[in-house]
Parts: sequence; structure tokens; C-alpha cells
Amino acid sequence: MKNIGVVGIQWGDEGKGKIIDILSEYADIIVRFQGGANAGHTIVAKGQKIILHLIPSGILHEDKVCVIGNGVVIDPEVFRQEIEKLKSLGYITHDERLLLSTMAHVIMPYHKKLDVLKESKGTKKIGTTGRGIGPAYEDKVGRKGIRVIDLLNKKIFSEKVKQNLEEKNFLIKKFYKDQPFKFRDIIRTYGTYRKLLKRYATDTVHYLHTGIGRKKRILFEGAQGTFLDIDHGTYPYVTSSNTVAGNISSGSGVPPKSIDYILGICKAYTTRVGEGPFPTELFDESGKTMREKGVEFGSTTGRPRRCGWFDAVIVKRALQLNGVDGLCIMKLDVLDTFDTIKMCTRYKIGKRFFTRPPVDSQGLEKCEPVYEEFAGWKTSLRGITRYDDLPENAKRYIKRLEEILETRINIISTGPERESTIIINNPFNM
Ligand code: GDP
Ligand code: IMO
Ligand code: MG
Repeated sequence: MKNIGVVGIQWGDEGKGKIIDILSEYADIIVRFQGGANAGHTIVAKGQKIILHLIPSGILHEDKVCVIGNGVVIDPEVFRQEIEKLKSLGYITHDERLLLSTMAHVIMPYHKKLDVLKESKGTKKIGTTGRGIGPAYEDKVGRKGIRVIDLLNKKIFSEKVKQNLEEKNFLIKKFYKDQPFKFRDIIRTYGTYRKLLKRYATDTVHYLHTGIGRKKRILFEGAQGTFLDIDHGTYPYVTSSNTVAGNISSGSGVPPKSIDYILGICKAYTTRVGEGPFPTELFDESGKTMREKGVEFGSTTGRPRRCGWFDAVIVKRALQLNGVDGLCIMKLDVLDTFDTIKMCTRYKIGKRFFTRPPVDSQGLEKCEPVYEEFAGWKTSLRGITRYDDLPENAKRYIKRLEEILETRINIISTGPERESTIIINNPFNM
């Protein structure tokens, strides 16, 4: 396969960063196509833990090009800090290896403030990351957003900030009763980002098309997860972009037919951060064990993640939505200590059973999970690299997953480090 899309199959934090880092070795170009610094992608390489929010997880590989596509909303301050951190660790030795789309929308201070204010007012909290994602995408769709190319032009940028501030300050002052922004402060702060962004900004669509023409291998890195998708997720408890594979094309400017393979990433159980329905959520000791053993705390906000058993009903829906060709099952080692492991294969509402999830959050709230049970393996899987070395009970769980999901499992992850990985089939070699 030449061009591979990698997407989260649950509610985010499935372990996409780890897999992108591993597969980057076989790719030439790694592309983020949606979301922003709400993402937190963790890589554990050479004993070091690195969390990336904006820069693609291929950046630790010297000879690759990382692209932030047009579909991403970029916070220049996070971008600056991330580059600084990576450079201090000896990465990004050549600036030409990092490209930023001139069409990407810029996160402004009022986006972040409005994100927080919206969450604090009223009762319907989404539990956002507070990174300004929703308000920035609102402006993009509302045709008043500021793009990287606008920021690069002093005059256009000033005009756009002025227009936007009129509306945003009205909202902030009159509706939220908070402190408005000063035009001069924004112009000054964002003026300091201009030089930095200019170094990386380019027509990434042209770059990717040239790459495709030269038969380069491209890896597309999804952020968030399928059920945080603005259309297909548990609306309104979602993020503000399309997270499914269909958005690879519009978020990066490559034609859909240039994507050869979709790799889905999911955990051997389920987690979710923020509000919203979660049928298999556990409130008992089992959930606590998952949180502690899996270190389930948000990579971006540090919030404890809600934990529960694997939900095959939603995963099956995600496989359809993304057209998943193969799967990675992550964090199998987190289930090491359980006597019994459960997998939800159906939902129950009253006396009726369902194998297809309701499309509304209210409906999903009502679903009770129906479980199949498996004997645990009760031994450490940490660091196992060969399928044959897995205990029989772990193989049985994996086989049942493959059977019920009717999808091939390509990779099984047995620890956070690069090395703790069982690669059954490398999609780049298929
Ligand atoms: P992403 O947002 O999908 O990239 O995932 P995150 O990085 O937010 O969360 C995944 C967490 O699980 C990170 O802390 C990873 O280091 C860790 N992780 C990934 N794979 C494994 C695994 O197989 N086992 C364990 N124990 N941890 C893992
Ligand atoms: P990665 O890429 C998990 C969740 C937030 C909240 C909802 C909306 O690391 O998997 P937003 O700030 O996007 O407006 O918040 O989406 N959320 C994530 N949850 N992983 C993520 O990214 C997330 N990005 C956003 O917790 O419920
Ligand atoms: Mg994450």
C-alpha cells in the first residue's frame, strides 16, 4: 500500500500517536488533516515520552516530511512551543521537513476565551479541551475565519482582526459579562508569530500532489475518534471537525481515490474524556483498574478518562463509517490482571436487543450493554512482540474480536513503547 489513513475508532486517545510513529518509518510524508491542539498524541521512544498536539507524530523520524493540512485549526502559540520543545530534544533539524498549509485556520485568543466561557455558562457542558476548537471552526464555516495566509499579510490580518473583534467583544462583554480584547494586544502578539509561521507556510496541497506524482508514501494521521465526529459522533458531545476517514481528502486536498488503505485504531477496552453517552462505562473497581493500569488521564488536559469494556456495537459502526481495512488493538496489556474480561456485543433497551447503535445521544443513553465474557490471562503481556507468545486466553479474546468485527487485526500493542508491538501485517507491506 502507498497511502494509508489512520483513524481513531472510539472516542479518541486510542493510541494513534504510537502507531503513526511506528509506521512513519515506512512512509515519506505524514499529514494531519483535521482538529487542532485538542489532540494529544503520545510517543514513547528511546525511553522518552513525547506528547504532540499539532505536529504530526512522524516528526521523530529524521528523513520524513510532516505536513499540517488545510483542515487543521492551528494555535500559533502551541505550534511555537512544540517546535521549541522538539528542537531542544534534537528533532526538526531541518525546517523544510515541517510544512504548514497557508489555508489552515488560525486559532485566535477570543476563540479560546469563548470556548471556556461557553462551557461555564448554562448546564449543557460538552467538556471541551478549552483549546478554542469549536469557536475557530464556527468562524471557518461562518466565513469570517482568519487563515495562515491572512496572518502573513499585515494589512489583511489587521482588517480581519478588527472586523472579528467588533462581534466577539460584543459577545464577550454583553452576553458573557467578561473582559473584551484589545485590538493592539492581538496585533502585537500575532505579529511575533508571523515570522515563525512564514518559515513553514506553503501550498501543502501542491506539495502533496507532487508527492503523489512521485509515488511518495503518505501516512494520514487522524485526531480524536469516530464518535467525536461532528456528523457521526454522539452529537452534541463531539468535537467540531469530521474525524472520519472521509475528511482525509478535504482536510488535506488529496483526491479520495489516492488513499489506498484505512487503518483503524482502537483500544482493547473503551475510554472517553468529557461529557456524553458511554454505554459500557464502568463505575466500579474494574473501571478504576483500567484507569490506573492504562494511565488513563488526558494527554492534553490531564482529566481522568472514563473507562469501560470494549463495545463492539459502536466499533462495528465505526468500521463501516471509515471503511476500515485493518485494525490495531491497543493496550491489551492493560487487561492483564482481570479474572474475567467482558465485550459488549449487543445493546438492550427494555426487552428489545440491538446490534446497531441509535444515532442520537438520548437513544444511546438508554442502551444497556449485553456482554460476552472471557477468562482473563492473568499474566503480563508487556513487551510481547510475537503473536505466538501471547497466552491462549489473550489469543481467544483477539480471535473473537476479529470474528465479531469481521475485520483483520494487523497490529496488537502490548505497552506504550515502540518496541512493545506485535506487527502481524504491516499495511505498507501489503
Ligand atoms: P492518541 O491520542 O490516540 O495518540 O492516544 P494518547 O496518546 O492520547 O493515549 C494513549 C496512551 O496510551 C498514551 O499514554 C500511550 O503512551 C499509551 N499507550 C499506547 N499504546 C499502549 C499499549 O499498548 N499499552 C499501554 N499500557 N499503553 C499504551
Ligand atoms: P486525540 O487526538 C479524546 C473531546 C473533548 C470533548 C470533546 C470536544 O488525542 O485522540 P473540543 O476541545 O474538541 O471542542 O472538545 O472532544 N476531545 C478528545 N477526546 N481525545 C482527543 O484527541 C480529543 N479531542 C477532543 O474531551 O469531550
Ligand atoms: Mg490523545
